[in-house]
Amino acid sequence: MKILGVETSCDETAAAVVEDGTRTLSNQVASQVEIHARYGGIVPEVASRQHILAIIPVIKQAVADAGVTWNDIDGIAVTRGPGLAGSLLIGVNTAKAISMAHRIPITGVNHLEGHIYANWLDRNGSDPAPAFPLLSLIVSGGHTDLVLMKGHGDYVLLGRTRDDAAGEAFDKAARILDLGYPGGPAIQQASESGTASVQLPRAWLKGTNDFSFSGIKTALLRLVEGGKIQNKADAAASFQEAVVEVLVTKTIAAAREYGVKQVILAGGVAANRLLRERLVKDSPLPVSIPDFELCTDNAAMIAACGYFRFRAGRTDGLALDVVPGLKLA
Ligand code: KG4
Ligand code: ZN
Repeated sequence: MKILGVETSCDETAAAVVEDGTRTLSNQVASQVEIHARYGGIVPEVASRQHILAIIPVIKQAVADAGVTWNDIDGIAVTRGPGLAGSLLIGVNTAKAISMAHRIPITGVNHLEGHIYANWLDRNGSDPAPAFPLLSLIVSGGHTDLVLMKGHGDYVLLGRTRDDAAGEAFDKAARILDLGYPGGPAIQQASESGTASVQLPRAWLKGTNDFSFSGIKTALLRLVEGGKIQNKADAAASFQEAVVEVLVTKTIAAAREYGVKQVILAGGVAANRLLRERLVKDSPLPVSIPDFELCTDNAAMIAACGYFRFRAGRTDGLALDVVPGLKLA
């Protein structure tokens, strides 16, 4: 079964073709990062306009790269939320038009669920698909969620951030240190030539599976404003260490508490090298992490999720609409 995935929830216009929810046949991503970098963050109106310009060429290229025609596509999966309303609309309306023109069934996907399904993609032969029940740590620009997944499409939210998302914290810390945008990769790169020698607080929120990252960010800001940071690389490394330590420790504690079979990592911050290494090293359970390029926003993950939705009979009609505040559970 071949699914076309379409993703426009934020600042990437993406389309991909995936076979049986597990094999990526093509994966096109048109990034707007350079356009938004000028403003130091995403400008929603600019994002919508760029999606309009890019969406048709990106979809055509994804179909061509996969070496298929519209007759070979069995379903269309499109992100319907959460995300920017204007951006989501471009993807959903384009997907609906294609669905109507080519008579292909359509299903709406939750963007976060898509991030989770990146873990089903392109696994090597000896590496089995994730086993249920599992615990997923979703760390993106807008979310930091610990989710118990008992089966396909079955989610229980165990905990979430009470303030900044992990990716948002990376982006804000990079701005404080004047390291550029997007902040995650910038902090990671700066960290490589530094040591985690700057004292920063960790919010443990003991007895809960929730997170809080605004305190670390504020502490960093105070140090910078007080002229206490001599070496930006050390500050970046200390910040990264603090965030990763909290994410890994709390994820492992929740995995133990709920007796899951394994842990999976999802979302843009899952591209962080220290987080990947530390979770694998410290977790007593098997850990699954998507390939680097499947961690940040893409449409292959949306198509993979769509496959499992179609398989469960979860098809949407043309009444499908965007839900900017869509919840996973
Ligand atoms: O999942 P994603 O691509 O978009 C959202 O759904 O939000 O995540 C984007 C976030 C940004 O905050 C970015 O700074 C962060 O992921 N990110 C990273 C890394 N690569 C991307 N954070 C830390 N280390 C990285 N290597
Ligand atoms: Zn995302």
